[in-house]
Amino acid sequence: MSDGRKPYIAGNWKMNLDRSKALDLIKTIKGRLGDGNDREVAVFAPSVYLADVSAVAQGSPLGVGAQNMYYEPGGAFTGELCGTMLREVGADRVLVGHSERRHVFGEPDEWMSRKIRAALRDSLLPVLCVGERLEERKGNKTDRVLKKQLESALIDLQADEVRRLTIAYEPVWAIGTGEVATPDQAAAAHAFIRKWIAQKLGAESGEAIRILYGGSVSPDNVKALMALDDVDGVLVGGASLKPDLFLPIIEYDS
Ligand code: 13P
Repeated sequence: MSDGRKPYIAGNWKMNLDRSKALDLIKTIKGRLGDGNDREVAVFAPSVYLADVSAVAQGSPLGVGAQNMYYEPGGAFTGELCGTMLREVGADRVLVGHSERRHVFGEPDEWMSRKIRAALRDSLLPVLCVGERLEERKGNKTDRVLKKQLESALIDLQADEVRRLTIAYEPVWAIGTGEVATPDQAAAAHAFIRKWIAQKLGAESGEAIRILYGGSVSPDNVKALMALDDVDGVLVGGASLKPDLFLPIIEYDS
């Protein structure tokens, strides 16, 4: 964590909770949030609950985001949602390229730059997720995979657009497994991503962009992760569903 970058703690609820549990959870988080000056907190809720969740969050610094979007502005795309729809129900940000979108639903790398551009066009703050699979890590291909994912998603972004972007490094083998990346693994991947951004999109962008870590984050490991120079926040799955786990993560002591 660097002094210049505000810590960003986000929960990705995935396809979990029902409406009443989602509302209870957001009320509890809102009730415990401070003024938002020293850390940014957000939840990525199932789209059908966004309107209700964002209504509760309103008036607080809590961010509310969608877990996915399609890049077209509208049309015959059954089952999909565009950015203007998500904004209309209160989302201010969106995940792009989560590993479950890439690997369970087969979304190709080429979609990610279109989605980021569409999110920015529709005034949503994109969080681009990148990360390698276990066989890629074992084959020493982590850097190659990250480079390909970053290149295909970000190569033609302008500096003012990069300012609205966040990256989440989520090694696929650490998601939902209880196996968190070691500090060395996380530090190396985050440093690689920051260096790539600095080289391709400018030193200022490299310094300013926030890079979150995701994959089995818990109250027990958040402090060590946040102590790493290039880790600016966490994207939390399972532990974001329970206040007794998520609140201590939000309130981690730096
Ligand atoms: P877990 O925290 O459950 O490993 O999920 C991480 C994740 O995918 C967040 O987007």
